[in-house]
Amino acid sequence: MPKTFYVTTPIYYVNDLPHLGHAYTTVAADVLARFKRLKGLQVFFLTGTDEHGLKVEKAARERKQDPQALADEVVARFKRLWDRLNISYTDFIRTTEPRHTAAAQLLISTVRDKGDIYLGDYQDWYCTPCETFLTETNLVNGNCPDCSRPVEKLKEKSYFFRLSKYQDRLREHIEANPGFIQPESRRREVLNFISQGLRDLSISRASFSWGIPVPWDESHVIYVWFDALANYLTGVGFAQDDSRFNEFWPASVHIIGKDILRFHAIYWPSFLLSAGIALPRKIAAHGWWTVEGKKMSKSLGNVVDPEQLADKYGVDALRYFLLREVPFGQDGDFSHKAMMNRVNSDLANDLGNLCHRVIAMVERYFQGTLPQPQADQERDQRLMDAWQQSLTEFEREMEELNFSLALTSMWRFVSACNKYLEEEAPWSLAQKDPQGARLPTVLYHACEAVRLIALSLSPFMPESTAKIWKQLGIREEPACTSLDEARRWGGLKPGIHVKKGPAIFPRYEE
Ligand code: ME8
Ligand code: MG
Repeated sequence: MPKTFYVTTPIYYVNDLPHLGHAYTTVAADVLARFKRLKGLQVFFLTGTDEHGLKVEKAARERKQDPQALADEVVARFKRLWDRLNISYTDFIRTTEPRHTAAAQLLISTVRDKGDIYLGDYQDWYCTPCETFLTETNLVNGNCPDCSRPVEKLKEKSYFFRLSKYQDRLREHIEANPGFIQPESRRREVLNFISQGLRDLSISRASFSWGIPVPWDESHVIYVWFDALANYLTGVGFAQDDSRFNEFWPASVHIIGKDILRFHAIYWPSFLLSAGIALPRKIAAHGWWTVEGKKMSKSLGNVVDPEQLADKYGVDALRYFLLREVPFGQDGDFSHKAMMNRVNSDLANDLGNLCHRVIAMVERYFQGTLPQPQADQERDQRLMDAWQQSLTEFEREMEELNFSLALTSMWRFVSACNKYLEEEAPWSLAQKDPQGARLPTVLYHACEAVRLIALSLSPFMPESTAKIWKQLGIREEPACTSLDEARRWGGLKPGIHVKKGPAIFPRYEE
């Protein structure tokens, strides 16, 4: 039985169209899912939409639309974007699906059976954009401390979850498992928050109805964050399919933005501790993107549409940029200039030229038939050693979700290949010694290098790396291979037919 790997994205609200921030998280999860598949693991990759709650209900009302109709429309847009970006999700969960109602209700009932839910009076503030309960002391200038927007006063009966009861167990778990919250700075933030003391959490609302009914009291709906977090269980069969659930749960990693860390690192594990369900192995919170130095916002009119970026620069260039430009976990800025630099320098110049030259020379000097290599020399050996080193680093960084560093180590090898070509200069070998042993040997090794680079980069750039393999005359797609193959230099078969196509990484011209 292959090992399993379960990766999730947040489920996105349907009050708004998908933008660059959503694309970032989902591309990161996709790259990880593809990497794990390449490593031979059986991967379950879940994404989806968060469709209940006051925020969605209000957005629908403003558009004079039924919330379900609004959700259906926006879901279509998310799915269209994920197809465009080649997101290889296993399942797309919508919180309005019956399977999710069943799972969320089972979870809340289990928590109640543990004695962790009681009826009380909620009398405090609520931030609808964040769907968060707040106290007077949380407010900053009377507004939400997270999004700075106005809050509303709530006064209603509510069911409460005994969050305070789990404070110590949660802290112990985080302290005993350093990898549970990543990066380290976020882990410390969560520990700080816990040390200030956790108050019981309101987990139902009685004043509106767009949600999942509380199973024992249908005059309440389940608080949207309790509902939403339960999606991670629903997605792998909780309350439906025990064998699938046992196969994939606990989740290997929940990938999220830093904005929703508290919900994932405090509320979610506490609900699970109460219900007696294993905790996810890791919560990885990434940073925040700004655009040309400014916060992305509808009022500024600078919200970036990922489909437009894909049209302009190419899907793989966008995927590459997002994960290369900013170390995972840190904040970053999207700018046209930065994007153009990555496209032209990393992709068109470094990698694109390497692929192009190598394939063109096999066409020119060997009529497109990959030659048989002869005896290796020291420089060939150095190239192979450089490969082993880059691959080792690449895999190590990928395991740590350091996508940017993983790419850097691969590009170190791309440079080594370009240097190898400059030093060996096959174009002058072809002049001076066309029948000699060096020309076929150098071009063979260069093609093999390109093959292995493309295999390793396939999680990041599935379309372009498949094209590279096709130009090399390889019948399979990199995604159907195993990364373990990349350890063994020399898998490329002499005699195959190499054929150049249009530039795989075209330069971006204004
Ligand atoms: O919070 N930079 O949904 P949401 C980076 N439904 N990432 C960004 C971003 C930016 N500028 N903007 C958005 C919700 N994101 C809840 C989640 S999960 C059980 C429920 C990404 O539509 C990032 O992943 O507001 C962030 O966490 C997520 O979108 C928030 O999406
Ligand atoms: Mg949000």
